[in-house]
Amino acid sequence: MSFSKFLPLALALGHGPLVSGLAAGAGACSAESFNFPLDQLNGTSSLGITASPVVNYTSTSLPPGTNLVGSYTVSYCNVTMTYTHPGWNDTIHVTVQLPAQDSWNGRLEGFGGGGYAASFGLLYSVAGVAEGFATVDTDAGHVKGSAQDSGQVTQTPYPWALTSPGQVNTALLVDWGSISLHEMAVIAKAAIEAFYGSQPTYSYFAGCSGGGRQAMMIAERYAGDFDGILAVAPAINIESFIPAGFWAEHVMGKLGYYPPACEVDAFTQAAIDACDELDGVQDSIIASPELCKFDPQSVVGQSFNCSGTTRQLTAEGATIVDAAWTGPRSAEGALGWFGVNKDAALTSFYILTECTSNYACTPSPTGLWDSWLIYLLAKDPEFDVMNMTDAQFFDYLNQTKVEYAQMLAAANPDLSSFKAAGGKLIIWQGLADEAIPPNGTIAFYQQVLQLDSDAQSFARFFEAPGVAHCYGGVGAIPNGAFDQLVSWVENGTAPDTLTAVDTSGNTRELCPYPMKQTYVSGDAADPTSLVFNCTLNPAASEIIADEFAFFTYE
Ligand SMILES: *[C@@H]1O[C@H](CO)[C@@H](O)[C@H](O)[C@H]1NC(C)=O
Ligand SMILES: *[C@@H]1O[C@H](CO)[C@@H](O)[C@H](O)[C@H]1NC(C)=O
Ligand SMILES: *[C@@H]1O[C@H](CO)[C@@H](O)[C@H](O)[C@H]1NC(C)=O
Ligand SMILES: *[C@@H]1O[C@H](CO)[C@@H](O)[C@H](O)[C@H]1NC(C)=O
Ligand SMILES: *[C@@H]1O[C@H](CO)[C@@H](O)[C@H](O)[C@H]1NC(C)=O
Ligand SMILES: *[C@@H]1O[C@H](CO)[C@@H](O)[C@H](O)[C@H]1NC(C)=O
Ligand SMILES: *[C@@H]1O[C@H](CO)[C@@H](O)[C@H](O)[C@H]1NC(C)=O
Ligand SMILES: *[C@@H]1O[C@H](CO)[C@@H](O)[C@H](O)[C@H]1NC(C)=O
Ligand SMILES: *[C@@H]1O[C@H](CO)[C@@H](O)[C@H](O)[C@H]1NC(C)=O
Ligand SMILES: *[C@@H]1O[C@H](CO)[C@@H](O)[C@H](O)[C@H]1NC(C)=O
Repeated sequence: MSFSKFLPLALALGHGPLVSGLAAGAGACSAESFNFPLDQLNGTSSLGITASPVVNYTSTSLPPGTNLVGSYTVSYCNVTMTYTHPGWNDTIHVTVQLPAQDSWNGRLEGFGGGGYAASFGLLYSVAGVAEGFATVDTDAGHVKGSAQDSGQVTQTPYPWALTSPGQVNTALLVDWGSISLHEMAVIAKAAIEAFYGSQPTYSYFAGCSGGGRQAMMIAERYAGDFDGILAVAPAINIESFIPAGFWAEHVMGKLGYYPPACEVDAFTQAAIDACDELDGVQDSIIASPELCKFDPQSVVGQSFNCSGTTRQLTAEGATIVDAAWTGPRSAEGALGWFGVNKDAALTSFYILTECTSNYACTPSPTGLWDSWLIYLLAKDPEFDVMNMTDAQFFDYLNQTKVEYAQMLAAANPDLSSFKAAGGKLIIWQGLADEAIPPNGTIAFYQQVLQLDSDAQSFARFFEAPGVAHCYGGVGAIPNGAFDQLVSWVENGTAPDTLTAVDTSGNTRELCPYPMKQTYVSGDAADPTSLVFNCTLNPAASEIIADEFAFFTYE
């Protein structure tokens, strides 16, 4: 595709200044304009470059960690650089999307993926281009996720992570875990230089969940690559919380009882009823989860409504729900990982069954947890995950740390390089996250503060009460966190709070840890009357990691 093809379109779009941009030394939207930055990426080899204009492309998109789903129509130069690490037999695609010069805001924004996918492609990047960013993402050498994915791509690492039974694809796991992230940044900056004739004024990276893990990996290992990083619900302890997440399903298998979703939801509702007001306000949000001592066994026998059928809460159901809330515990009482908080929806990931109309139910795991056990730990596609002994399960929780912590975890609390590079970092975590146990994120940030008592000068962490995984839930979502990050990086305006809004339009300020959002006044019946402020979180003095030897990072 040549310059002449892009130019008339740019003019038709009223993008006349593209000409001046190009005249200023920039390149055209064709492969010949770009070079693979081999001199900066030893150990790689280019497999090809494509570049062609995308015009008036319409897609649904949202920035990571927001519920701002919108339909956008964008035009940009679509650049793909494909490369390999010779000897590794990998093929990595980096996609750089370059708006026309006069639409470019001078900045780069990189996006992460989620689950087992390194990228969600256009689902995130289109909104970035619409705001004027040059954007980048990498597939890290395996298949991308997308809005259309039914779960196969994001919720299992199969087939790419297993080369043959017994052997994982170490190269692709390392690509995904870390090195593709730095390479992506170098490639994006080279493409920007070639196209616009200048480097980005500022570079940002944003991601949620698996993408939040990628964000934290960049902050920890590749300090100079991005000026501002937004890490939402980051999967920093991916190697542990993923296999540990299977615990409730494992307990289900042991009991031979598979609760219907309505029963699980009834336990969750009972916990919310019991603990909602512990934070001072009745709003269906458990904002002080550490105060919630609700025991599900205490409501066994109570009736609940299952789509019009009255049923009773069972003791087995209580044990299973408690497994999801407590997290795996070995017979000796050792904790394998944390559970989720009690206002999190358990039927999304932790406790899944399929039932007939008479509530004869069978297990129906999501894939997210069990596929880690099957492909990365047992390394056997035929492994019967519902038939593990407890001893096997805890052996796997040890094995996963040995084999994958260094490769995939992003839980090193030493952010001194990022600080020295002048970077700014915002992390936020929904307390009603139904996938990632909030205590893992909190424990990490406690360690950051322990290492550097001045960490808030560049890295702030915010709890979002009542917010689910990445977005969703009844709590207020900090949709503007990325803009606050930009202000922090570019204007030095540190976020004292993150401004968040719930689905009813109520605005809440999220507090920087170790502060927590605290009810001050107002009537819960009129949510607009509620006033909160930030006060020191009493639970913050409980250093979560101290209790658990496995937290020490090596
Ligand atoms: C790449 O390797 C060459 C030759 O060994 C070396 O001179 C150069 O400094 C290396 N570049 C980087 C970015 O590591
Ligand atoms: C792109 O959209 C603009 C604005 O709606 C329109 O003027 C232009 O003709 C479109 N270009 C193409 C190639 O469809
Ligand atoms: C961008 O280019 C890649 C590689 O050629 C292609 O697969 C993709 O469909 C293009 N994107 C759009 C929106 O056309
Ligand atoms: C390289 O990877 C491809 C799949 O991407 C596979 O089909 C092929 O067997 C691999 N080659 C070697 C030598 O491992
Ligand atoms: C999370 O940590 C707090 C201590 O701050 C503790 O009280 C609580 O039980 C933990 N929750 C889970 C689910 O592990
Ligand atoms: C039970 O739930 C059904 C719908 O799921 C509803 O129509 C019915 O009114 C409920 N019954 C009671 C007693 O709440
Ligand atoms: C479950 O495991 C036991 C031994 O650990 C084995 O004897 C049994 O056949 C397995 N059951 C299934 C259904 O695979
Ligand atoms: C797991 O590792 C811990 C710490 O190294 C050890 O104490 C424990 O016995 C191990 N558990 C199993 C099941 O191997
Ligand atoms: C920085 O501050 C100036 C002056 O208040 C304002 O115009 C500009 O929008 C701010 N930029 C950002 C990125 O916040
Ligand atoms: C928050 O509100 C409480 C209750 O009104 C008050 O005691 C406290 O001083 C306030 N704290 C701040 C930091 O404003």
